[in-house]
Amino acid sequence: MKKHNFSAGPCVLPKTVIEQAAAAVLNFDDGLSLLEISHRSKPFVDVMENARSLALELLGLEGKGYKALFLQGGASTQFLMVALNLLEKRAGYLNSGTWADKSIKEAKIYDDIYEVGSSKNANYNYIPKGYEIPEDYDYFHCTSNNTIFGTQMKSFPDSPVPMVCDMSSDIFSRQLDFSKFDLIYAGAQKNMGPAGTTLVVVKEDILGKVSRKIPSMMDYKVHISKGSMFNTPPVFAVYTSMLTLEWLKNLGGIKAIEAENEKKARLIYSEIDLNPLFKGYSVKEDRSMMNATFTLENENLKETFEAMVKEAGINGINGHRSVGGYRASMYNALSLDSVKALVEVMSELESKA
Ligand SMILES: Cc1ncc(COP(=O)(O)O)c(C=O)c1O
Repeated sequence: MKKHNFSAGPCVLPKTVIEQAAAAVLNFDDGLSLLEISHRSKPFVDVMENARSLALELLGLEGKGYKALFLQGGASTQFLMVALNLLEKRAGYLNSGTWADKSIKEAKIYDDIYEVGSSKNANYNYIPKGYEIPEDYDYFHCTSNNTIFGTQMKSFPDSPVPMVCDMSSDIFSRQLDFSKFDLIYAGAQKNMGPAGTTLVVVKEDILGKVSRKIPSMMDYKVHISKGSMFNTPPVFAVYTSMLTLEWLKNLGGIKAIEAENEKKARLIYSEIDLNPLFKGYSVKEDRSMMNATFTLENENLKETFEAMVKEAGINGINGHRSVGGYRASMYNALSLDSVKALVEVMSELESKA
């Protein structure tokens, strides 16, 4: 039976990408597996170059002074790498969720961090707004989509200082003016590929301005100078990410996928709003197009609902422990049919109750 995979990440990937990646594990180049070739071999160097240039092309950042890197250590390593590379005296952070909070904790190890806004007191059910970013800060850091709480920034400030954004859970999902950002990072395991690599897109001219010595593996300039091959890259994760980026390009790029993502989000949120058995978690104006969070109004229906969900082949909708309830993650590769299947179960519950 077909599974409808709503996992928050790692998550659903395009079927064709999984098939191509599986084939490359068996035979990538002249009888050799992708897993046993040298990362310095021409076929893999081409993969890395292609993945880096596809990322810039899809974001509309080619020829604008940006470099794309595929690094390791997940988005969590970027929390400290950003601070090591950019933080000299003080930086401003928007505390819009658990991951933002973690990025603040890491940066505080190195220097002074100011929370320009926070929704922590409301268990992050909205995006803080109306904040100021002082001009003498080294940078401003925000999280475009809060995976756990299901909130998403709909607009971004005109920052007077370099703007850094954790786009782990909504990169390549919607059209934005990506040139507003000076550094974007995203773990691959939502909209790009399997876990194991992190995309970093950085404007080169913001680097090299801090006085501290940066360990080589933590230094963006080192990775740029080595074409993202300073150490052995995670070849499988990079190759699979390249395949997903090619898939997206062939679909028509971010514009095309955004239209699909909007349809999926409209469908689930209209069911959440119209069905009296369910209640949305995040405030309406900040609802995420990627992660819809909701709860059951009547906990007595939990067992029945979850049995129906299972019966329909729906996987991965349990909410994060800090929110409870349910979370339907609708990343790029999740089909509209999967959302229809979930909505059908929700409305069937209503007719039964
Ligand atoms: C927005 C966001 N930032 C950071 C992370 C942490 O990513 P990683 O596990 O790759 O370190 C996650 C993980 O889900 C996330 O959703």
